[in-house]
Amino acid sequence: MSFDGFTTWLSDLERRLDPVAQMAHFLDGTPDPWQAEAIMSNAPTLALRVCRQAGKSEVLGTLGVQELQRGGTTIALCPAERQVRELVRKVSFNLRKTDLIVERVTQQEIEVNSGGRFIALPASSATIRGYTADLLLVDEMAYIPNDEEVITAILPMLKDNGRIVYASTPAGKNNMFAELFTDPRPKVHRIIVKGTDIPRLAARCARLKEQLSATRYRQEVLVEMLSDGLSYFDLDVIENAINPDVEAMIL
Ligand SMILES: Nc1ncnc2c1ncn2[C@@H]1O[C@H](COP(=O)(O)OP(=O)(O)OP(=O)(O)O)[C@@H](O)[C@H]1O
Ligand SMILES: [Mg+2]
Repeated sequence: MSFDGFTTWLSDLERRLDPVAQMAHFLDGTPDPWQAEAIMSNAPTLALRVCRQAGKSEVLGTLGVQELQRGGTTIALCPAERQVRELVRKVSFNLRKTDLIVERVTQQEIEVNSGGRFIALPASSATIRGYTADLLLVDEMAYIPNDEEVITAILPMLKDNGRIVYASTPAGKNNMFAELFTDPRPKVHRIIVKGTDIPRLAARCARLKEQLSATRYRQEVLVEMLSDGLSYFDLDVIENAINPDVEAMIL
């Protein structure tokens, strides 16, 4: 190995030993504290309730590469084909910054020389069953149609010591993603991040506050789990229209 090759190998080893440094290398920037917490988590179930455009998919893409480095199999689910392609692109892009060699890549699957596989599927797919996974990633979970059916199909594929990571911006209270935050399940590591908690998103949050309805802003930026997702009227309007002094009229 030439001296240059040795230096590259050492840098790659250093990053493997420090997952946050590795994510910084992939991002070409500094991971936010919540991203570092997610990357370092060893919890069997990790649930990320995080604002739009905060870097959820970047976290999943980094975890995917780390599993490839261990030679494991990751199954990633996204609500739609387009998001599947995006996530595979992110993982492929990150892989170029490692010493792993890609042996096969399609729009849904990557295989590398460690024996690791990263398979991304749209949640609507009838072909979800039949895999065994070390890591399950579910992106935009609150937007997966028939979520109960889909999660019931994927959970048995996870190895006994496997991990599952759910990430989403919330979309109401009546879905399995919301349950991760309302059920007192002790083994879930929950991370909740509002857009207003992230300094680099300050200008964007201010713009969204002007452009979005109050309800949408509360959901997309403040990550509130509103009663039935997005109602036709803003919750504020409904709340202000209710006069607590007037009793219900029963006909
Ligand atoms: N810590 C960070 N520092 C700088 N840029 C970041 C950081 N994390 C993510 N980004 C960038 O922010 C953009 C959005 O990231 P990403 O797609 O992962 O967000 P997301 O939360 O999945 O968004 P969406 O809600 O639209 O799915 C990308 O360009 C990504 O590279
Ligand atoms: Mg995303």
